[in-house]
Amino acid sequence: MREQLEGLREKALQELEGVGDLQGAEEWRVAYLGRRGALTKILRSVGKLPPEERPQAGERANRVKRELTQAWEAKVEALKAKAIPPEERIDVTLPGRKPLLGTIHPVTRTLWEIYDIFAPMGFQVVEGPEVEWDRYNFELLNIPKDHPARDMFATLYVAPPYGRSQEMMLRTHTSPVQIRTMERFCPEPIRVLIPGRCYRYESVDATHEWMFIQVEGLAVGREVTMADLKGVLTAFARQMFGAERKVRFRCDYFPFVEPGAEMAIDCIVCQGEGCRVCGYTGWLEILGAGMVHPEVLRNGGYDPQSYTGFAFGMGVERIAMLKHSIDDIRLFYGNDLRFLKQFS
Ligand code: DAH
Repeated sequence: MREQLEGLREKALQELEGVGDLQGAEEWRVAYLGRRGALTKILRSVGKLPPEERPQAGERANRVKRELTQAWEAKVEALKAKAIPPEERIDVTLPGRKPLLGTIHPVTRTLWEIYDIFAPMGFQVVEGPEVEWDRYNFELLNIPKDHPARDMFATLYVAPPYGRSQEMMLRTHTSPVQIRTMERFCPEPIRVLIPGRCYRYESVDATHEWMFIQVEGLAVGREVTMADLKGVLTAFARQMFGAERKVRFRCDYFPFVEPGAEMAIDCIVCQGEGCRVCGYTGWLEILGAGMVHPEVLRNGGYDPQSYTGFAFGMGVERIAMLKHSIDDIRLFYGNDLRFLKQFS
């Protein structure tokens, strides 16, 4: 019986090796381990042996049964794993796929660069609401109703909350936060940058969006002068656009500053020679600025007899466009990954 068992074991294992699919494995199981299988037959015949031989023979037969069962189970597992279609199989040796992490938006990136330039000069960042009262957006900035300067701003009015009679709008610039900041810090000196979204009722083209981002600057103190304004903004322009930049200040009109100025840099494309980008003038306008109007200082709580200040405001998209030669402002908000990925 011993030889019989051993022969069966070897034959079975050898055959199992050659089995190539689940159906073959099942046939093998029936042939050896099934109710009428070869091994089962041997196990049954143990009872016919002389009593003294039974225990040893029984144990040996059971051991073979266990071994064959385990071999069969392992085979079935292996066959099942192989049966997984290739596209679902996981190859753990392949290098991992890099998850899409996203990148910093070019406008945010530009804003951060602006913060980095102004922070060492003592400017901290503050913010204000995007939905603003007419009072802050216009009145307290010296732009009363019917003032022609209102025409500079195409405004999106919104319905005020229930019970309020004042006019509300999506702010047209970040300048209203000048007043809010003065109200908050008075009588302390102020040096702040004010970033944020602005909205205008505007037809959209390559240089105009109905929503855009400005960053405002405000410095108020006892001895703030126009020289400070020019020094700070020149330092900014040279760090942002190159140490060799020339700057130009020209008179301009904004109701909340006196005097008001427009600042330009020599064209970064043609170095002032004149080209398509600068409209053949050699200069690129980058921001509006001025000395805070005495009335505006008063509206913020500061006595214009003892305090002076300067302010400036710029469009962050415009700065990014000049810096990276982007020719259409709509690209910033088009959500086209081919554009956005260039700033990773
Ligand atoms: N608020 C102005 C605008 O949106 C920009 C500006 C000009 C801001 C002069 C200032 C400034 O603070 O002094 O067109």
